[in-house]
Amino acid sequence: MNVLVTGGAGFIGSHVAAALLEQGHHVVVLDSMDPYYEPTIKRANVDRCTELAEHHYYFVEGSITDEDTVEAVFDDYNVEYVYHQAAQAGVRTSVENPHKPHEINTTGLLNLLEAATKHDVQRFVNASSSSVYGHDEYLPYDEDHPTTPRSPYGVTKRTAEHYCRVYTEIHDLPTVSLRYFTVYGPRMRPNMAITNFTSRCLTGDPPVIYGDGQQTRDFTYIDDVVRANLALLETDAADGEAMNIGSTGTITIEALAEHVIAETGADVEPVYDDAKEADARHTHADVSKARELIDYDPTTSIREGVSQFVEWYEDNREWYEPLVRAS
Ligand SMILES: NC(=O)c1ccc[n+]([C@@H]2O[C@H](COP(=O)([O-])OP(=O)(O)OC[C@H]3O[C@@H](n4cnc5c(N)ncnc54)[C@H](O)[C@@H]3O)[C@@H](O)[C@H]2O)c1
Repeated sequence: MNVLVTGGAGFIGSHVAAALLEQGHHVVVLDSMDPYYEPTIKRANVDRCTELAEHHYYFVEGSITDEDTVEAVFDDYNVEYVYHQAAQAGVRTSVENPHKPHEINTTGLLNLLEAATKHDVQRFVNASSSSVYGHDEYLPYDEDHPTTPRSPYGVTKRTAEHYCRVYTEIHDLPTVSLRYFTVYGPRMRPNMAITNFTSRCLTGDPPVIYGDGQQTRDFTYIDDVVRANLALLETDAADGEAMNIGSTGTITIEALAEHVIAETGADVEPVYDDAKEADARHTHADVSKARELIDYDPTTSIREGVSQFVEWYEDNREWYEPLVRAS
């Protein structure tokens, strides 16, 4: 199958692309190499995929906001299936500059939906986010929970889900939106709690917790997220639907910091700073819908996954840490 992975030089997209290559699919990545974080990490992701499958991996540097570029990719590579991972991610940055996520996450998405409709793609998988929920009226979130995003980023992700559903309804384009709950693992984006804590602990600095540390997060290991994406190749269930992709539990940010301190063996105590307004207080996924529709079964607990991440970080510290610090 010819599969387009937008944002395939990024963290999740590159893991999805690698898994598709391993299954023998032809993969084209469209990525703008946005310098929102150190692009050298993205180049390393592209190199890794090239090594995996030089002859059926194609990398196109360009933006999904450019209609002509998008159209050319669908034409040139005869795209049959789309994993749309490109975005301006990040809740806090969207508060500082809402125009950029709006342009990329909604206008860019529309360009892709138009091209996918025109080219009759078999499935359009849209990376959504737990940020669509915002305030928790009850936990865990199921997909019937009200969506009241607390940030411009969350608004763009919810808007994208609506666009996908509408394209399924009016154009018969088979779309599905996966609401990821904070994803982590090897080569993850810098500027996230797990990378920040690990990097600081390994250099003997205390992890910085924003707020009282009692906020809870459902962190999802990258391998579980990749499995959810690939499961969609096996079924045509869930057209027009959005579903939660979370983990097997939650952890407070304070407990996470303590776990990273223990795993790194650092002789430090967490320090506390002001809470960030746009951050949700709690996230916790009810994954029953994904379990039912695509047999989703997350297997990595947060403590196991964080231990694996710290081990990977230590093994890759030489090249990864300077890039994390520069981002
Ligand atoms: N990582 C998480 O915890 C998480 C949680 C919820 C949702 N998501 C969503 O998952 C997707 C992937 O996230 P990620 O963590 O891999 O982020 P990432 O930033 O590592 O990857 C996104 C990629 O998109 C590319 N990109 C940005 N603007 C582009 C444009 N205009 N055209 C083409 N490419 C562009 C970037 O260069 C980057 O490589 C995003 O849609 C994000 O919103 C991620």
